[in-house]
Amino acid sequence: MRTPIIAGNWKMNNNIEESIELVEEIKKFQLDRDVEAVICVPFTDIKDVKAAIKDTDIKLGAQNMHWEEKGAFTGEISPLMLKELGVDYVILGHSERRQYFNETDDTVNKKMKSALNHDIKPIICVGESLEERESGKEREVVKSQVIKAFEDIDRKEIENIVIAYEPIWAIGTGKTASADDANDMIGFIRDTIGEIYGKEEKQNIRIQYGGSVKPDTISELMGKEEVDGALVGGASLKSEDFVKLINY
Ligand code: PGA
Repeated sequence: MRTPIIAGNWKMNNNIEESIELVEEIKKFQLDRDVEAVICVPFTDIKDVKAAIKDTDIKLGAQNMHWEEKGAFTGEISPLMLKELGVDYVILGHSERRQYFNETDDTVNKKMKSALNHDIKPIICVGESLEERESGKEREVVKSQVIKAFEDIDRKEIENIVIAYEPIWAIGTGKTASADDANDMIGFIRDTIGEIYGKEEKQNIRIQYGGSVKPDTISELMGKEEVDGALVGGASLKSEDFVKLINY
């Protein structure tokens, strides 16, 4: 049985005061206990958000990390630093990081290994561009991203990993993949995990959809067999919307 997981990706939004305000608003609502709710916040908000969610079931995530524990890597944040702050999840390989900050399949793989070694659960993002989809290459691209991200990752870690399928053309654009398209592609990613590891891992891996998910699209999406959750940007910044997503 795969527990559904709805994760908010705040991106570079919310200072400390705004973060606490948002968390306090979310806490006023009753949250569905059968769904894992995660908020992935900017580094500077982590400590205060951790304190603000302490009496709740909400999990905390970061949006990136370096793979090394320490050293001369100006501007980077290490897994030890995240662990010290009590982070449960880390988003890795988000398309914005691949696009603007030279994140590659190789760095995603290094970061995934490091996160798992430090008991931080990675949310690994994969997804094709509009051009790749229009030229019919979406499966090839996503399969290659998955295979490279999972290189030398032990099968016993599968239950600690979440994949987010996020077609780049659907992120922040208001265009979502149809629930059927998301289901197809997520099924394909699940098959890829099956090819790498086997039947059990294929059944156990949790795979989210991400890209303009909104309260009015979530229930159809979550009704699909292959879809285990959503990674949500814009709609996670409004308490009411985020709660509607969790309580889909
Ligand atoms: P969006 O972002 O929901 O604003 O499209 C999703 C994401 O980038 O994770």
